[in-house]
Amino acid sequence: MAGPDETAAPFAKRMQGEHVHIVGGGSGIGFAVAEAVVANGGRVTLSSRDAGKLAMAAGKLGGAPAAVGLPFDMTDENAVKSAFATQPDSSIDHLVISASSAVHGRFDMLETEPVRGMFDAKFFGPYVTAREALPKLKEGGSITLFSGVLSRKPGMNCSGLGAVNSAVEGLTRALALELGPRLRVNCCSPGMVRSEAYDKMPEEKRDRMYEETGRSLPVGRVGFVQEVADAVLFLMHNGYTTGVVMDVDGGHMVRQYA
Ligand SMILES: NC(=O)c1ccc[n+]([C@@H]2O[C@H](COP(=O)([O-])OP(=O)(O)OC[C@H]3O[C@@H](n4cnc5c(N)ncnc54)[C@H](OP(=O)(O)O)[C@@H]3O)[C@@H](O)[C@H]2O)c1
Repeated sequence: MAGPDETAAPFAKRMQGEHVHIVGGGSGIGFAVAEAVVANGGRVTLSSRDAGKLAMAAGKLGGAPAAVGLPFDMTDENAVKSAFATQPDSSIDHLVISASSAVHGRFDMLETEPVRGMFDAKFFGPYVTAREALPKLKEGGSITLFSGVLSRKPGMNCSGLGAVNSAVEGLTRALALELGPRLRVNCCSPGMVRSEAYDKMPEEKRDRMYEETGRSLPVGRVGFVQEVADAVLFLMHNGYTTGVVMDVDGGHMVRQYA
């Protein structure tokens, strides 16, 4: 297990040779984490559903051995089991799960099924993935889960998303207790950051959303994926941090409502 001296070493030293498995690593925040890990001398396994997208993402990071793809769908329990059982790389230093899906809509209008589907993807997916990865995670390693500001600062038409984010935060605290001292478990809670998550929106509408949300925040803008990746690297490597929800949200929690 890392002692205080190793914990104090710069990222580049600590990451040398480390293996980080990022589920959701083919895009957005997950890919930014992968870039930061590889830039600091570590290597990554990237997972998500789309094998072609993963191959392209791994290629951008220089390909094997620095970055490889391992496709699976987190909502398919057998696929998750088989991915970790057959994974040739038998040891993981840090597991990061940024993959998710989001459902919006008025509480009284939204059907139950899409909300259940979101819990499958954003709660049960990480739950099963973390459990199946356990035998491969090295002592002294870490798990980082993802929630989002809606867990504690609700938004209109986001009741399901707020609830699933709260569930992930509750799971984080429980796992930090249960899996320590072998592993540390933390949660990163981003505010709005520019990522592929918003690719399906018309560009003009998306830019207006970034602009208006940014203006409402103490920092005056929305975030960049690299800023969230910085926080994830901290959570991976600070040996005295576990069971926390780290907000990386431009001050969303203290913003003034219009
Ligand atoms: N961006 C924001 O403004 C924001 C705000 C608050 C919270 N967050 C949270 O931050 C995390 C990362 O967000 P992001 O912006 O990086 O999102 P993103 O760019 O949409 O990335 C999500 C990734 O998850 C993968 N994925 C989705 N469903 C999956 C499944 N069932 N199995 C495996 N992989 C799956 C997607 O790839 P495939 O489609 O190829 O599977 C995609 O690469 C998420 O938990 C999100 O809720 C983001």
